Amino acid sequence: MKPASPFLELDEGPRVRVVFDGTPLDLRAGANLAAALLAAGVQTLRHTSVSGAPRGPFCMMGACYDCLVEIDGVVRQACMTEVAEGMEIARPRAGEAGHGA
Ligand code: FES
Repeated sequence: MKPASPFLELDEGPRVRVVFDGTPLDLRAGANLAAALLAAGVQTLRHTSVSGAPRGPFCMMGACYDCLVEIDGVVRQACMTEVAEGMEIARPRAGEAGHGA
């Protein structure tokens, strides 16, 4: 039976170790990275370049850019990325995720 929420599926299946801002996290292999981070309790993925306001996944379809993170040195959209073993994920440094005020 399919769970009522697709986020509940993130609790099932094999997990892989990633690191987010220096903290090891075990996320479901192949899951949507933005969803997996939200399910792990990470709500702020970046801060805006102008005001420094926190941003987290919003559209989950690659349109808003609020989910930008640095993955192995490259700034990418977490909602367009699958969880993979060994990912080094960090909040982008100031000026690298310049979308939004
Ligand atoms: S959540 Fe909007 S682009 Fe990823």
